[in-house]
Amino acid sequence: MQINTIQTTPHPGQKPGTSGLRAKTKQFQTPNYLENFVQSVFEATGGMVGKSLTLGGDGRFYNREACQIILKMAAANGAAKVYVGQNGLLSTPAASAVIRELKTDGGMILSASHNPGGLDGDFGIKYNVPAGGPAPESITGAIHALSEKIVTYKIIEADDIDLTEIGTQMLGDMVVEVIDPVAIYEDLMAALFDFEAIRALFDSGFSMCFDAMNAITGPYAKRIIEGTLGAPVGTVVNGEPLPDFGGLHPDPNPVYAKPLMDLMMGPDAPDLGAASDGDGDRNMIVGRGQFVTPSDSLAILAANAHLAPGYKDGINGIARSMPTSRAADRVAKKLGIEMHETPTGWKFFGTLLDAGRVTICGEESAGTGSDHVREKDGLWAVLLWLNVLAVRRCSVVDVVHGHWQEYGRDYYTRHDYEAVDKDIADAIISGIRDRLDKLAGASFNGLGVEKALDFRYEDPIDGSVAEHQGLQVYFDNGSRCVIRLSGTGTSGATIRVYLERFEDDPEQMGYDTQDAVGPLIEAMEELAQIKEWTGRKKPDVIT
Ligand code: G1P
Ligand code: ZN
Repeated sequence: MQINTIQTTPHPGQKPGTSGLRAKTKQFQTPNYLENFVQSVFEATGGMVGKSLTLGGDGRFYNREACQIILKMAAANGAAKVYVGQNGLLSTPAASAVIRELKTDGGMILSASHNPGGLDGDFGIKYNVPAGGPAPESITGAIHALSEKIVTYKIIEADDIDLTEIGTQMLGDMVVEVIDPVAIYEDLMAALFDFEAIRALFDSGFSMCFDAMNAITGPYAKRIIEGTLGAPVGTVVNGEPLPDFGGLHPDPNPVYAKPLMDLMMGPDAPDLGAASDGDGDRNMIVGRGQFVTPSDSLAILAANAHLAPGYKDGINGIARSMPTSRAADRVAKKLGIEMHETPTGWKFFGTLLDAGRVTICGEESAGTGSDHVREKDGLWAVLLWLNVLAVRRCSVVDVVHGHWQEYGRDYYTRHDYEAVDKDIADAIISGIRDRLDKLAGASFNGLGVEKALDFRYEDPIDGSVAEHQGLQVYFDNGSRCVIRLSGTGTSGATIRVYLERFEDDPEQMGYDTQDAVGPLIEAMEELAQIKEWTGRKKPDVIT
């Protein structure tokens, strides 16, 4: 086996963000860009000698080429074995399941999640730790530091591995096992959910549309929902993972999954609509005529989880990212279990899950999951909803409205301003931050500020501290606004404004969300002046 040590120079800025390293595909294709990062990961995690790795991605453009490069680099760095999904495919939650089940020394997932793919789109890579979750900041920081001074990387000279055939091959001295990307994941789902009850639900005529958005969940949803659970063929649409996602923006929200939304709001709506994102970790849930906000979905799933066999003894606790609405907090209170508020990004849930302090986690950005893996899991959320509906035998609308009656309703929306000039975005944030101390007692659009904070998180398990995780403005009528900059964008800055209003008067629960939070939107504009600064008349995306 010929191992080559290649001279290289750093590509500045290889700093993993909210979820791995993301960049334009063309940037990933520039000489040594991917290689530098991969070598830095290997070294930051103590080298690869004798280790095993899980590898796969969401099938976007450059996925296969990147797999071949990583395999050859792993072999050159002395790895013993790599498990790779057939055709280089593994959804993010499935990769986490494989890492845990096969006990590999971590994994690499090739994806830029919900960002568009293709030659002109985005590519990305995430390193996950042996527990199956995204690397914490201590590791991503070390990777970044090494990438800033890298001088060489190692790669072997060999033919490409045949990724189409399941089975074992050798790459130099390293074993490559091409695995079925679905099998381990499906077994895990079968252990958590009452597949028989869900089959009976479909047998009774329950109808569903699952939009896989031409991304990775297609093969998983087809095999499990149409195959094992017996839903009619055609239940899964856009079910083939395509390198450019067929030109779709694979982010399951009412804006990018508009055809599904239109179907669900129309006269021929099936009982349940669902969608997932590029790499399969996000989910969208829609009932007939009723979009379920991810924040509500988290609360509802937590309140009903005991109906599924995997959670029949109850859940230990709930965690949500800070900008996620506080709907789940009231469920935790009622159940008498722990509730945690963490910074944005799944990596912050890892320690709590590992310590058994929480069972279910969620983010407002269509992310829900549990301790079965260490990533959010789109299909898991859909299957838990199916399990709940199979037991309760009522409509999604009934479940949601019943939940509001019991716990109150959190009107919730997120307004995104995309590709804003970075300096302007920074000025908006620091402008508010500088005034934070003086905001309590002030009022905006007639709404009084109760307190204003720069969110700081101290991990209760390992004591690590994350500062400046978003600015929170609490109003004295119980409403809340959060503003932060995205850590996943690849062009300019994205400003996210999260708006929520709690309502427990049943008479006040039937408004359109944008109307319900209208006064809050005005108050936030008065405070942040985003439209003034950016010259935009309205947000680019409202979810
Ligand atoms: C976004 C979401 C966040 C999620 C992340 C990865 O990050 O807001 O909740 O964990 O994508 O899917 P952001 O761009 O806001 O940093
Ligand atoms: Zn994703």
